[in-house]
Amino acid sequence: MNKRRKFLKSAGSTALFTSLGSSFFIGCSTSEEAINPDNNNNNNNVSPDNGYSLDGGNYIIELNHSNFSILKNTGGWYRFDRGGMLLVNVGQNIIRAFSSSCPHAGCRTSWRYTNNNFNCTCHGAVFTNEGTVISGPANSDLESYNVTREEDIITVST
Ligand code: FES
Repeated sequence: MNKRRKFLKSAGSTALFTSLGSSFFIGCSTSEEAINPDNNNNNNNVSPDNGYSLDGGNYIIELNHSNFSILKNTGGWYRFDRGGMLLVNVGQNIIRAFSSSCPHAGCRTSWRYTNNNFNCTCHGAVFTNEGTVISGPANSDLESYNVTREEDIITVST
């Protein structure tokens, strides 16, 4: 093999690895259970720049922060991974919070919210926006958290 061909073959492998390699490995390492909610780490040292702080088991969330402002709208929802929870505005200024761990097999990152229902696309379970399971394979409800609201600050007790 001449030098030029050898170089191109080597460069092609490097380019392929560079373009596919990093995303491939990130994809493999980001499993559904890879999320480590703050409350599992006893990490009370959260920067307020993220729009929330953690006080014991209570998440204090600023709805005017860009990370959470979608929750000011009826039907707005947010998968808050650091808190390990799903948040949804169900109207009349009511925000609900649920554990993002699906009671079927624990998937945390495959949630959709349509027609006022949460759908876990891991295996297709469906829950109302009150957390009640309405379609399997899950056979129990989402764990719900207490939410209190004072204007644009909510506190979620986990
Ligand atoms: S983990 Fe949610 S449906 Fe299976």
